[in-house]
Amino acid sequence: MPTTSSRDVLDRVDREQTNYLEELKDYLRIPSVSTDPAYRDDVLRCASFLEEKMRAAGLQTEQISDGKGYPLVYGEWLGAPGKPTVLFYGHYDVQPVDPIELWRNDPFEPTVEGDLLVARGATDDKGQSFAHLKAVASILAERGSLPVNVKFIVEGEEESGGEAIERFVRKDAGKKLAADCVVVSDSAMYGPGQPSLLYGLKGMAYVELKVTGPNRDLHSGSFGGAVTNPLNALGRIVDRLRDADTGRISIPGFYDDVRPLEDWERKEFASLPFDAEAYKAEIGVPEVFGEEGYTTLERVWARPTCDLNGIFGGYMGEGAKTILPSWAGAKVSMRLVPDQDPDRITELFTAYVEEIKPPGVTVEVKTHHGAKPVLVETDGPLVAAACAAMADVWKPPVRVREGGSIPIVGTFSEVLEVPILLLGFGLSDDRLHSPNEKFNISNFYGGIRAMVRMLDRMAEAG
Ligand code: BES
Ligand code: MN
Ligand code: MN
Repeated sequence: MPTTSSRDVLDRVDREQTNYLEELKDYLRIPSVSTDPAYRDDVLRCASFLEEKMRAAGLQTEQISDGKGYPLVYGEWLGAPGKPTVLFYGHYDVQPVDPIELWRNDPFEPTVEGDLLVARGATDDKGQSFAHLKAVASILAERGSLPVNVKFIVEGEEESGGEAIERFVRKDAGKKLAADCVVVSDSAMYGPGQPSLLYGLKGMAYVELKVTGPNRDLHSGSFGGAVTNPLNALGRIVDRLRDADTGRISIPGFYDDVRPLEDWERKEFASLPFDAEAYKAEIGVPEVFGEEGYTTLERVWARPTCDLNGIFGGYMGEGAKTILPSWAGAKVSMRLVPDQDPDRITELFTAYVEEIKPPGVTVEVKTHHGAKPVLVETDGPLVAAACAAMADVWKPPVRVREGGSIPIVGTFSEVLEVPILLLGFGLSDDRLHSPNEKFNISNFYGGIRAMVRMLDRMAEAG
């Protein structure tokens, strides 16, 4: 059992927590939408804001950039020789806010509603990763030193491809970022009061499909029936991506590299409390649906998917306009599991679409960012220390997988070869990427406390 109580620092966190919340609100006021070039200055301002917060906490900081994309904000405190080094990862960029009219308030004017802090980025990922920084800041303010060494690497492109950090981690090859473990808080707990330790994240192949027919929109009477309508053709193609009865993806070879669920995983997932009625009610659907032969948790965590994210073309304004559109498009995401490879899956997708496209149109497949699926180790003294720290605040975490992707985690696991602790402080109803995203304020404070305990416990474990 560890002897350090962390009482000194935890008392300070109690006293300071409303100040920490105000600082988080300032961070959330910066609209750091990385995918939209219109926000470029705000994203850069956000990087500087974060760097300043790190510096004020007592870290040595710098912004790392190779001139392309958005800077990485780096901070370190390495004054505990012989002790483990913890690398904290997070992202300071956020998703776009549309549809803006569904927000109760300005997404960049954080609003407190009881225990909820509502703002874009509140949970994904400003609030969660700010908890890391406030834990470190509290220890340094109270004691003047940390029990372990820490490094922070916070990127500004996670929501739009994460290319800058990918280049840096590969080039650095574990020198500047050398650490004994990585801590990532960019996910949810299993339920209120029940933390989770993730051991798997999905990967991603994201493609945009364009179907082109006539050289202009045509009168749908004068030409109707004479040519292939690209929008009809697209509908036919997307309908053939997946079997509507079995939920299986129809792309030949798609499942070839899928690692089957192991017996212990199926047992562990089945032993978790899962209230199907509450699940359906929370998202407002009458039924769940997915691949035949798997439970909802298995489908979401460990089976690959292929989904339309958007489909467009033709006349989309008010009223009726009679045309055969010249082209039609769709955005398709394929969430991948080990050992599927995003490039290979994109090739299979492209070949299949070429094969099934109706005559009279051409198809073009454009690739967006990808991510490798990853499974991480959950053994070792540092992992145990982190789990015990989560239990100090809540309960011992349950071991689960996730349907979301954090692209750099696969690269960390390849390059750094150390345990990666995926410890989220969010909840499954945080509405990330949706209107009225929120973070429970009690989870923000709990996250800070858990990270204080984790660092104290890791100093004794390692
Ligand atoms: N924080 C999420 C990923 C996540 C969501 C993990 C829910 C666990 C639970 C992250 O910011 C994210 O949105 N990732 C993108 C990556 C994509 C753009 C490659 C995703 O999963 O869509
Ligand atoms: Mn995130
Ligand atoms: Mn996100």
